[in-house]
Amino acid sequence: MSTTDPTHQFKLGDRDVSRLGYGAMQLAGPGVFGPPKDRDAAVAVLRDAVASGVDHIDTSDFYGPHVTNEIIREALHPYPDDLVIVTKIGARRGPDKSWNPAFSREDLTGAVHDNLRNLGLDVLEVVNLRSMLGTHGPAEGSLEEPLTVLADLQRQGLVRHIGLSNVTSRQVADSRRICEIACVQNAYNLAHRDDDALIDELAGHGTAYVPFFPLGGFTPLQSSTLSEVANRLGATPMQVALAWLLRRSPNVLLIPGTSSVAHLRENLAARNLDLPQDAMTALDDLR
Ligand SMILES: NC(=O)c1ccc[n+]([C@@H]2O[C@H](COP(=O)([O-])OP(=O)(O)OC[C@H]3O[C@@H](n4cnc5c(N)ncnc54)[C@H](OP(=O)(O)O)[C@@H]3O)[C@@H](O)[C@H]2O)c1
Repeated sequence: MSTTDPTHQFKLGDRDVSRLGYGAMQLAGPGVFGPPKDRDAAVAVLRDAVASGVDHIDTSDFYGPHVTNEIIREALHPYPDDLVIVTKIGARRGPDKSWNPAFSREDLTGAVHDNLRNLGLDVLEVVNLRSMLGTHGPAEGSLEEPLTVLADLQRQGLVRHIGLSNVTSRQVADSRRICEIACVQNAYNLAHRDDDALIDELAGHGTAYVPFFPLGGFTPLQSSTLSEVANRLGATPMQVALAWLLRRSPNVLLIPGTSSVAHLRENLAARNLDLPQDAMTALDDLR
C-alpha cells in the first residue's frame, strides 16, 4: 500500500480515514498514569502526526486519566475538519493505576461528558464501548445494558458512531441488534492472531477492525524473521509489522502508539512499504 494506492483509506463510521492513524495512549505518564515527563514533546508528536497526514487518532479518558485528552485538546484544538478522534468508555482508573469496570448508566454518561469536555467537542465522532468482562482478552457475556445506554447517548446527539473493544464475534453480532457497529478494537499483531476469523467477518460487513498493540504493546514484537525481512527491504522491524497488518485485510485501520516524533515518522513511513509475496509468506508463517 502507498499513499497513492486507492486502498490507503477505509470507512470509519461515515468518514474515510487513512489506514495508518495514531494511538495516543503512550502520551500519558508511566503506567499510562499521570502526566508525561515532557508535555511539550507529547504536544509535538500530535502536531507532527496531523501535519504528516494522520486523520484518525485513538484516545480515551482512561489514559492519565484525562491527561491524554487534555494534551490532544491543547495540541490540536480547533481540530482540522478531516480529523476523526475515537475515544472509548467502560473503565475507570483507580489511584493505584488499576483499570476497573465502569459500566453503570451513570458511569457511561459521565464518561461521555468527560470526553466531550476534555477534548473540547460538542459531539464525539466514534465511541468504543470497552468490555471489561475479561481482563486478558475478550470474554463472553452480555453487553446489552451498557450498549443500550450508549445508544441512548447517540440518540441524544452526543455520539455519532459506536464501536466495540475487547469483544468476541458473538458480542459483535448481538450488538448489531441494538445499534450499528462502526468498528471493533481488539488486540492483534503478527504474534497474536486470535481474531483472524473476526477480521474476515467484519470485512464482509464493511466494518473497520482496529488492532490495538499493533507493535506488541507493552512487549514490543521481536523475531528473527521480522528482523531478516526488515534488513532485506531496508526497513525497520516495526515498519514491517505495520506493513504486514496493512496487507492483512483492507478493513484494518492502524493506530500505532508512540511518544516520540522519530518513531511516529518511522511508523507512518510504513504506508509506502510494499511487502513482496515471499516476505508476506514468511511473516504469515510466524506464529
Ligand atoms: N481498546 C483497548 O483496550 C486498548 C488497549 C491498549 C491500547 N489501545 C490503543 O491502541 C494504541 C496502540 O497500542 P499501544 O500504543 O499500547 O501499543 P503499540 O502501538 O503496539 O506499541 C507501542 C510501543 O511501541 C513503541 N514504539 C512505537 N513505535 C516504535 C518504533 N518505530 N520503534 C520502536 N518502538 C516503537 C512505543 O514506545 P515509544 O513511545 O518509545 O515509541 C511503545 O512502547 C494505543 O495508543 C491506544 O490508543 C487500546
